[in-house]
Amino acid sequence: MISLPSSRSLIPAPARLQRIVLTGFMGSGKTSVGTLLAAQLGWRFADLDREIEQREGRSVPLIFSQSGEPHFRQLESLVLASLLAEQRLVLALGGGTPEHSGNRLLLTHSAHTAIVYLSADYATLLHRCRLQSTAPAAVARPVLNDPAIAEQRFHLRRPLYEHIATHTVDTTALTPEAALAVILNALHTTA
Ligand code: S3P
Repeated sequence: MISLPSSRSLIPAPARLQRIVLTGFMGSGKTSVGTLLAAQLGWRFADLDREIEQREGRSVPLIFSQSGEPHFRQLESLVLASLLAEQRLVLALGGGTPEHSGNRLLLTHSAHTAIVYLSADYATLLHRCRLQSTAPAAVARPVLNDPAIAEQRFHLRRPLYEHIATHTVDTTALTPEAALAVILNALHTTA
């Protein structure tokens, strides 16, 4: 008897790959695409911000307001290093994670790791962030408090995302599901 695969069956990850890291500015879809990707592969999904919050027992906005951004960045580097030791992991970075050269080094020296940059233009990103900030599970983003500074950071970070990426996917016109299909195809094509 021939058994047909169900539409929910797991897709094998490209051989030798142990981690897929998603990078990009706030609103690029790292969490939504990462959740879908991990489910498809049967891997664990980790969101760097949520992991920091669990470890600290307080939210990212509270860490920013009580301890300052430099402290948040230290925690971010520590938690990133420990997560990169895991296997079969899809990891969504924070939008600012690649600003630190130490984080970039950790990421680019991590073996068997694909780094996917989810790009989009600034207007699209800002629009998505505004929608998310009014959603029932609202995402609070202290770095967006000053839109002019946020835009400067976007321009500063773009070449850094490009530098660390092994793959780039322009998500401007893509749903998370469509971005997932493009990523899976890219990973299997270049594996
Ligand atoms: C930040 C992005 C956030 C979070 C923190 C700082 C940034 O992550 O790490 O608020 O500097 O861009 P997301 O990109 O997941 O929103």
